[in-house]
Amino acid sequence: MSKYARILTEVPGPRSREFSRLREAAVPSSAATLHGIFVAEAEGALLRDVDGNQFIDFTSGIGVLNVGHRHPAVLNAVRRQLEQFTHTCFHVVAYESYLKLATEVNRRVPGDFPKKTFFANSGAEAIENAAKIARAYTGRAALVAFEHAFHGRTYMALSLTGKVAPYKAGLGPFVPEIYHVPYPYCYRWPGADTEDVCVEKAWNRFEEFFHLHVSPEEVAAIFFEPVLGEGGFVPMPAEFAKRLRHFCDEHGILLVADEIQSGWGRTGRWFATEHLGIVPDVTVSAKSLGGGFPLSAVTGRAEVMDAPQVGGIGGTYGGNAVSVAAALAAIEVLDSEGLVQRAEGLGEQIRGRFREMAERYPFVGDVRGLGAMNALELVTNRETKKPAPELVKSTLKVALQKGLLLLKAGTYGNVIRTLPALNIRKEVLDEGLDLLESAFEEVLQKVS
Ligand SMILES: Cc1ncc(COP(=O)(O)O)c(C=O)c1O
Repeated sequence: MSKYARILTEVPGPRSREFSRLREAAVPSSAATLHGIFVAEAEGALLRDVDGNQFIDFTSGIGVLNVGHRHPAVLNAVRRQLEQFTHTCFHVVAYESYLKLATEVNRRVPGDFPKKTFFANSGAEAIENAAKIARAYTGRAALVAFEHAFHGRTYMALSLTGKVAPYKAGLGPFVPEIYHVPYPYCYRWPGADTEDVCVEKAWNRFEEFFHLHVSPEEVAAIFFEPVLGEGGFVPMPAEFAKRLRHFCDEHGILLVADEIQSGWGRTGRWFATEHLGIVPDVTVSAKSLGGGFPLSAVTGRAEVMDAPQVGGIGGTYGGNAVSVAAALAAIEVLDSEGLVQRAEGLGEQIRGRFREMAERYPFVGDVRGLGAMNALELVTNRETKKPAPELVKSTLKVALQKGLLLLKAGTYGNVIRTLPALNIRKEVLDEGLDLLESAFEEVLQKVS
């Protein structure tokens, strides 16, 4: 019997279905929505829809709510800010809170060197700015990213993205001088039975790439996700990351970590690169930085960040005062509630349950993750590893009907990823995992 998930109607319920009809008429279908329900209110790790159904939220608005929905400290900070001013544009009249947050972010982002931070609104916008800053600093044009990467939907970020459907198909041409190298996706690397072999093979391809496609001396920056996000929650092996760092040092290339999904405590460290034992030159973060409000940051070596001409980076809303107030509060919550440390334990618990599920359900091909950023990769056959996106779709649908919100991921759409709030109560987490398992049980009945 579910205690936190409460389903009162068929899902989606009648009001959600009515809103869906309005949506169809007023909003382009290309701006997709994963679940057919409409939210009425949310708190912590729970979300209620317009039909009164209550769901356990394992999505956190795609990793935005590490502190949960409507954390009281975040709401209070926002309320206080609303009483003072909402907007001046930092480039017109500056405010102290921007400086406080920049200082705080500089302190948290890895790197024992002077840093500076610039704020924008979205992840993609921060990636755009990181690319401009890297080109300005190095005077080089080329940018390198990884296959399976997702860096956002604006043209520079999209050009850096290494996944065609649905992001790039039919939308070219893309920004020139962008190259993609293979990512060490060890579960799918042909002939790689161990991580060591996978790293060796992937590294050979990496080095070969620079003989075939672009000279390292023409490359301004290499962008990488320490854990692939949309690409299916694949952590980069530490040995590969170390070689990457060394390669960048050797050739004067800036190493840019996209920590938009993995940052701000999600993986059990403030930033996922801390697991890898390397320090990037530039770290891009967003999502949970703003505690539910739109905010992104580019943080890097001071001399790198100062490279573009005055006015070369900026934007009307970047570092908006309300978002900045929310971010300062969210970071304080991560600290005071010990949520970064908690993410580690949550992850162990989640992966423990996932491994049990892998024993029971033959379609679970791989279980992986870092801290509280975890995934199950579904396949039709464990030998061939043929992706099973239709099983992911069915699981998400059945889980929703039981009261659990899940996300998919993966280049082949065959990965289920979980991003619960880092302060989710243990009994809520357990119930959510029970619901996932019971969804798998139903899916298994259908396929066997
Ligand atoms: C790793 C990563 N980079 C970039 C982005 C793009 O961020 P936004 O959607 O805020 O533009 C995302 C969003 O999911 C992401 O996960």
